[in-house]
This record gives sequence, C-alpha cells and structure tokens, in this order.
Amino acid sequence: MRKLTYLIACSLDGFIGDTAGDASSMVAFVDEEYFGYLKSEYPETMPTHGRRALGFDDLKNQKFDTIIQGRGSYNEAMKEGITSPYAHLREYVASRTLGESPDPHVEIVADDLVAKVRELKAEDGEFGIYLCGGSKLAGELLDEIDELVIKSYPIVLGTGMPMFGSGFAVTEFTLDAVRSFGNGVVVRTYARKR
Ligand SMILES: NC(=O)c1ccc[n+]([C@@H]2O[C@H](COP(=O)([O-])OP(=O)(O)OC[C@H]3O[C@@H](n4cnc5c(N)ncnc54)[C@H](OP(=O)(O)O)[C@@H]3O)[C@@H](O)[C@H]2O)c1
Repeated sequence: MRKLTYLIACSLDGFIGDTAGDASSMVAFVDEEYFGYLKSEYPETMPTHGRRALGFDDLKNQKFDTIIQGRGSYNEAMKEGITSPYAHLREYVASRTLGESPDPHVEIVADDLVAKVRELKAEDGEFGIYLCGGSKLAGELLDEIDELVIKSYPIVLGTGMPMFGSGFAVTEFTLDAVRSFGNGVVVRTYARKR
C-alpha cells in the first residue's frame, strides 16, 4: 500500500497562504540550509521549471513518484503558461470543470476522486503519492491522508487559507520526526493514527 502524504508550507497559525492562497510571505525563509534539506530530502516537490532554473532537474525522486493537486493549485502554473508543472512525477489534477486535460502528461480526475486515490494507493511501489494541495483538495482527501509533512514558517498571518478546507472533525496523528533550522523553520512529519 502506497502512502498519500500531504506536504505543505504553512504559518505558525496554520495558514497555507493569504486568503487567496498566496504563500509568497514564506519564500524569504528558503535560505541555504533549509533549501539544502529540501533539495536532498524532497527534490521532487519543487516544480520542474524551478528545478531546471536552479540546475538540479536531474536529481532523482526521493519519496514520491505521483502528485495530485487541485485545480486551484494547478492554476498557479497555468497562469504562467505551464501545463505540466511536475513533469518529473505522474500528474493528476482534480477538477470537475477543466474538461479535457491541457497537457498529455496531466490526467484530470473529475469523478470519484477518493476512488482514484485509493486505486493509486493500492499500486505496488516504493514511492508514495504527494498531495500538493490546496486547501479544498486536502479537505476533500483528509480521510485518505496517511502522512503529514508540515513545513512550518515562523510567521503569524492572523487569517488566510487554512491547511484543510473542511468542516470541524478531530483527526489524530502521531509525531514521527521533527527537523528544525537556524532560521526558525520547523518540518514535522506525522503518521495517521488508524
Ligand atoms: N502553502 C503551500 O505549500 C501551498 C501548496 C499548494 C497550494 N497552495 C495554494 O493553495 C491555493 C489553492 O487552494 P484552493 O483550496 O483554492 O484550491 P485547490 O484545493 O487547489 O483546488 C480546488 C479545486 O479542486 C477541484 N476539486 C476539489 N475536490 C474535488 C473532487 N472531489 N472532485 C473533483 N475535483 C475536485 C475543484 O476544481 P473545479 O472547480 O475545477 O471543479 C476545486 O475547485 C493556491 O493559491 C496555492 O497557491 C499553497
């Protein structure tokens, strides 16, 4: 069984960006030490064009071979004319409105999202599935999430886009690992308590 991992950047008060989802206030924390960690542990979670610009698009995937993102998150790339933002992974985009995929490498999941995720999780393989976000998609898939990797930035936003766009429910996780950085970023890894 492959894991579905929600890996997400958020503020201390649990927001993944401003009310529109803009996370640019977090970019300033990507310094040499923290970037080195991301590059060695999670290189595949950076978009293909960014990897190419930074000269490491030849790095092997470490944890994931598949990504699923919501249409809102995918739109961020589309706005820049990029139709396959994670070409180094198998790409799935959840959307009931996009219709035909704008890219042959990207599969649109319009119906029965949970069934599709369960099908992907049931595949054999050493690599997992990267749930990229955003908030609405994570809320829809909360029950399917096996692991959380929360990249916590030392900022408080007061309001913004929540990590999960879902209703109130208590879901327990257990702490697996904590890694802290000189600039105050803390990356916590949690496993789903089943
Ligand atoms: N801080 C971070 O690390 C981080 C990471 C990722 C994204 N973000 C931010 O998150 C924002 C986007 O989040 P969001 O909550 O607005 O949107 P989202 O979760 O990315 O996408 C929501 C869309 O996904 C589709 N969808 C959701 N559930 C579905 C289902 N059951 N079946 C089929 N399609 C489904 C729908 O698309 P249709 O309307 O087309 O049907 C829905 O409108 C962006 O601003 C992005 O920058 C931040």
